[in-house]
Amino acid sequence: MNLRALAATAVYAVLEQGQSLSSALPTQQQALSNPKDKALLAELCYGVMRVLPQLDQCVSACLSKPFKGKQRIIHQLLLIGCYQLYFTRIPAHAAISETAEACRQLGHESLVKVVNGVLRNIQRQQPPLSEANSTLKYNFPAWIIKKLQAAYPEQWQQIIDNSQQRPPMWLRNNRQQQSREQYCQQLQEQAIAISVGSSDDAIMLQNPIDVAQLPAFNAGAVSVQDGAAQWAAQLLDAQTGELVLDACAAPGGKSCHILERTPGVQLVAVDNDSKRLARVSQNLQRLGLEAQVISGDAAAINTWWQGPKFDRILLDAPCSATGVIRRHPDIKWLRKAADITELSQLQAQILDHCWQWLRPGGILLYATCSIMPEENHQQIMAFLARTADAELQPITASQENCSLDWQILPGQDNMDGFYYAKLRKIDTA
Ligand SMILES: C[S@@+](CC[C@H](N)C(=O)[O-])C[C@H]1O[C@@H](n2cnc3c(N)ncnc32)[C@H](O)[C@@H]1O
Repeated sequence: MNLRALAATAVYAVLEQGQSLSSALPTQQQALSNPKDKALLAELCYGVMRVLPQLDQCVSACLSKPFKGKQRIIHQLLLIGCYQLYFTRIPAHAAISETAEACRQLGHESLVKVVNGVLRNIQRQQPPLSEANSTLKYNFPAWIIKKLQAAYPEQWQQIIDNSQQRPPMWLRNNRQQQSREQYCQQLQEQAIAISVGSSDDAIMLQNPIDVAQLPAFNAGAVSVQDGAAQWAAQLLDAQTGELVLDACAAPGGKSCHILERTPGVQLVAVDNDSKRLARVSQNLQRLGLEAQVISGDAAAINTWWQGPKFDRILLDAPCSATGVIRRHPDIKWLRKAADITELSQLQAQILDHCWQWLRPGGILLYATCSIMPEENHQQIMAFLARTADAELQPITASQENCSLDWQILPGQDNMDGFYYAKLRKIDTA
């Protein structure tokens, strides 16, 4: 199948079958060998997710009746075609002929003329993309816009704007191998432009590059991890000899960082998704780190753990991921308003249970990559109200920034949207 047919298949898997783009895209990329083609395939799929409402409106306006059933994939193919005409430098004639050929390859020979006609029409008329309502204007679902307006009356537009940008690439220096300064020097020697982040190990690249081009990447010198996520290990501040639980660990970025910072930590890395858990083991192996990796439910610790209570717990809870829309624009279309309530109930359940497994005097760091107050500040306030032996420990992220809990908004210091609350179990003995 040609690249446009692969792109339509991936977009179909997301929009019609509810798969995430990060699982649908690699499946299609396997069919390509040239890295440039793989990158173009990603650009088309991610691009469509970013501006879906406008593309949808433009394509639908050109169709006398919408495609249904098995033909839906041709609607997705037209979105890919339309995206190329408005948002890429691919010459229009090539974009149109390749997209029409994809229609044939997808087994819809009878619709080739329709695809050709619709795209030629759009190319000739270049109608301005509609901004007729807020969904079209911002390319965001109305329910998220509403929630952001209520939670962030001053900043919601900036949040949306930042969530529509392409994210920078961040590295986490592996301090077991070299200091951040040493690695920065190696990058600069290779003319890779960088700046350092606010947390101890973070390095931001001016332009994303293939990890294969990073000095000693395969030897574990660095890992790819957003600057906001790198605050987790720093705020948890695990000490040598402590028993630490990473309760929702997969794919293991934060587990590895905890061990890189403090090698003598006894880490238990748990996740209830065994497929994702395999990636924890792979990441530990690449970095030469050791942890107990367990497939289990963080809301039923007694079913897989007979050891003592934990000194520290990182609870990087399952969440709406609304803070990382710039990295995963498909989240806008996969999440539904009701998910926020469901997720906040699940988070409360896991939080209450993990608390039972924290020793008195211990620390639990609650984290999400969400920007919804129900999953974050409100969640923690409700927890404090029902938990007599819990108190918040202030978070000091910089000289200017000291607060009880910490909501990072997308794009703030170039980081993803993230939330942290550091809870201490009061020792009543
Ligand atoms: C935000 S991700 C964790 C990211 C990870 N901490 C990292 O830095 O790589 C949330 C994880 O929670 C897991 N999860 C969801 N519900 C769970 C449960 N009841 N018990 C354990 N893990 C769970 C999901 O499978 C997912 O891998």
